[in-house]
Amino acid sequence: MNGVAVGPPGFEEAVNLRQRARAAGMDPDYWYAVEEVRNIQPGSVVEVVFWKRSIALYRAADGSFHAMDNRCAHRQLKLSLGQVEGCRLVCSYHGWKYDPDGQLAETAHEMLGGSLPKVSLRTYPVKVRYGLIWLFPGDPELAEVLHIPEIPELEGKGRWACVPLSFTWSAHHSMVIDNVSDFTHAWLHRRYRPFDGATLTRCETIGDDVHVAYDTSVGRGRISGLFVDRKRVDTDSMKLCYQYPYQWSNTDEAIKHWLFVLPIDERTTRAFFLFYFKSLKIPLLPIHIPRLAMASVLKISNRVLIGPLLAQDGFAVEAEQEGYERHFDARPLEFNLAVRAFQNVTVRKWQEYLARENGTAMPAREPPTADSEAGADA
Ligand code: FES
Ligand SMILES: [Fe+2]
Repeated sequence: MNGVAVGPPGFEEAVNLRQRARAAGMDPDYWYAVEEVRNIQPGSVVEVVFWKRSIALYRAADGSFHAMDNRCAHRQLKLSLGQVEGCRLVCSYHGWKYDPDGQLAETAHEMLGGSLPKVSLRTYPVKVRYGLIWLFPGDPELAEVLHIPEIPELEGKGRWACVPLSFTWSAHHSMVIDNVSDFTHAWLHRRYRPFDGATLTRCETIGDDVHVAYDTSVGRGRISGLFVDRKRVDTDSMKLCYQYPYQWSNTDEAIKHWLFVLPIDERTTRAFFLFYFKSLKIPLLPIHIPRLAMASVLKISNRVLIGPLLAQDGFAVEAEQEGYERHFDARPLEFNLAVRAFQNVTVRKWQEYLARENGTAMPAREPPTADSEAGADA
């Protein structure tokens, strides 16, 4: 060693699929969940980061959400260090005040020459849905064309109970996506046994979606079995999908979840989980829970089951990130076809984005090698 710190390669230098996946960003031309609505009160501002890009997200006094580049045009202070005044975002230093459209509207001091400079910051489309705040970091013209995923079960009168959970993990987003759809890690959850004995029965990439199915026993553990209503729900198989850049699962149309990742940088990801249930049991009693009580039971299940389960996943992906940073050049061994399929989509989507940005044609896709079929994803 010559004392120079060596870290994982960047996307262009990566020599195998795993390294490419671990260096890839995510295509900004999608809606991304950036925060839970319940965390942002009117009159407050927070910083959100989409793939190293800092954005000030604020909630005006009237409850509406707005987002703009997190950099005052004057001396580049983060606007997330500032205040909200009515519908304006105010920089904390000299009090420059920005309208929701990013235009400088007023300053707290006299301007030399008397007139305001023409200043406008980039703004981002923002929407609220499913208790989450969504932001479109890409080409704003596409924001109207591309949509937040439709989740009919979470809307309207008879909507299913759902309590969102979010985590910030020190791990690359591809590790998080690999984790949630890779059922070979039942060992990690041996205490809760949310799934057992998984056999992959489908792994098919269609466009930007990877469809996966497992034959598995869902919710057989001591704690998970308390909540899962196996009389009403067929818990012997599960469908999952990496619907780029989102991920979902479906157990017999009765237990579902979506995961929305917010890629922050190569080693940080925010993960927003929405678990929702058509049918839950009251723990210890063989009775079905009336719809009105579902939200309360879900809160309990989030606390005693889903939260701790996901904390185990957080522990694992953070440890994987650490291991990867130390041993990024170790021979990649991957035995779950689904994981390689996810990584292929993540890498291809990032290549496509870079090619669009640089105005270049897409490089030809690499065919899988015999070696990769045998378990090494080089
Ligand atoms: S740095 Fe923002 S107002 Fe001066
Ligand atoms: Fe897990």
